Amino acid sequence: VKRITTHILQEMKDRGEKISMLTAYDYSMAKIVDAAGIDIILVGDSASNVMAGHETTLPITLDQMIYHASAVVRAVSRSFVVVDIPFGSYQGNSSEALRSTIRIMKESGAHAVKVEGGSEIKESVARILSAGVPVMGHLGLTPQSIYKFGTYTVRAKEDTEANKLLEDAKLLEELGCFAIVVEKIPADLAKKVAESVSIPIIGIGAGGGVDGQVLVMHDMLGITQEFKPRFLRQYADLQGIMMEAFGQYIKDVKSKDFPNEGESY
Ligand code: KIV
Ligand code: NA
Repeated sequence: VKRITTHILQEMKDRGEKISMLTAYDYSMAKIVDAAGIDIILVGDSASNVMAGHETTLPITLDQMIYHASAVVRAVSRSFVVVDIPFGSYQGNSSEALRSTIRIMKESGAHAVKVEGGSEIKESVARILSAGVPVMGHLGLTPQSIYKFGTYTVRAKEDTEANKLLEDAKLLEELGCFAIVVEKIPADLAKKVAESVSIPIIGIGAGGGVDGQVLVMHDMLGITQEFKPRFLRQYADLQGIMMEAFGQYIKDVKSKDFPNEGESY
């Protein structure tokens, strides 16, 4: 199978084919996501929430992101693998951003990195790009800044923030980013961003006027239960299926139904 590249993603936008993107954090799941034909796999720092049980994305470390990313890369033959650089590993200065990126690329074998923010991190973005590593931007609700926002509600509803977001998107394109995620912003604004830049805009909670969609795997599979924002379409009830399987297993063990003769040596 032909590996997805930044060129292929750009061609998708140019001909109006929507880009599909999902998160994955481990080998077994990534293997299924890749086989299903997802264009981009994001090793998101949402691993901090769904894998480690932290309340925010802030605690996850660079080493932990590399562990998740290397497991995903080993599973993938077609999807383009993007890795979040975690909080504290790129904002400080551009040398640190490049050092973190090089560790991710060398130690995991991923294809690109993602960073949150616009003009605030432009030196870091430029430095990473200068090393030949594709960079995906992330604007709107950027969870690494949750304590600045104070809430997970929709961003950029007012003109000042909307205008800055639009300017940041143009800046990221100018710097050379290959795509941008926009999270939880009004659909009209997201559409305007997608029309104002030539690179793919991937939305989450950003409506249908963008060039692709991303969801957190465990949310769309119905494994996480407490998180049900309006933008989340749940494609399966894996929690229900798992509870049933585990319950049946417990019953079979207790009743001595499992294992039977055919399941023994
Ligand atoms: O970490 C993550 O899962 C993300 C997506 C929600 C875009 O950044
Ligand atoms: Na993220």
